[in-house]
Amino acid sequence: MERFTPVYSKQAGQTERCHPADKTMLAAGYDAWAPHYDADMRRYGYRVPALMVAQLRCHVPDRRAFVLDAGAGSGLVAQALKAFGYQNVVGLDPSMAMLRRACTKGLYRLCLKTALGAPAALADHRFDAILAAGVLKAGHAPPAALGALVRAVRPKGIIIFNLQADKVAAEEYNRMRRRLETGHQWRPLIATLPFDPLPGVAAEQKNVIYVYQTAGTATGDMPPQP
Ligand SMILES: C[S@@+](CC[C@H](N)C(=O)[O-])C[C@H]1O[C@@H](n2cnc3c(N)ncnc32)[C@H](O)[C@@H]1O
Repeated sequence: MERFTPVYSKQAGQTERCHPADKTMLAAGYDAWAPHYDADMRRYGYRVPALMVAQLRCHVPDRRAFVLDAGAGSGLVAQALKAFGYQNVVGLDPSMAMLRRACTKGLYRLCLKTALGAPAALADHRFDAILAAGVLKAGHAPPAALGALVRAVRPKGIIIFNLQADKVAAEEYNRMRRRLETGHQWRPLIATLPFDPLPGVAAEQKNVIYVYQTAGTATGDMPPQP
């Protein structure tokens, strides 16, 4: 627990509009955690990468699909992707130490040291699918990053991410999620039941995994759902 707690305890009371200095602190926290992250997550029974890749297999079965692992961390999502044969994976993360670990596993076509929501971090409409595991929460990528994901994926692309099930903790993210729905930028395909992302961590909040499909054109003209 000791290695796990400090990274999150720094975020207590932060909002998605945290000061840039807090972001630096967060990256430093992940840099320090990087050498132990995989072992800790194994110990805690981390489920999110496997559950997300199971969703990807249903919605994007083509193993040649161009997939972005947003907030790649140490590469656990890419390991799950590789196990199911996905070959064209790009990793993105602002923590150099995490990204270095991910990239030395040889799982990515390309690794980008940047943050979701950073200006021009990603070219528009490139990816067939994006997975963002453990990234959309306070002190990490802000709610506006959901819009960046929509722009980065091709028309009718697939976006898979997890949020905390707690309505207060995820309030701003849920508001942005719904705003993109009412703006016909994307439509929901799946929302899982709340599940325990880290069964080995007693106090960890339950998560929900969402699967969205973006509009049929880059300008977001998806017709309203019946
Ligand atoms: C809990 S870890 C999850 C890593 C990996 N996706 C996994 O499931 O193991 C969160 C990651 O998000 C990254 N992160 C934090 N803020 C971010 C942002 N704005 N954009 C992208 N990644 C961010 C951190 O550096 C860290 O590697």
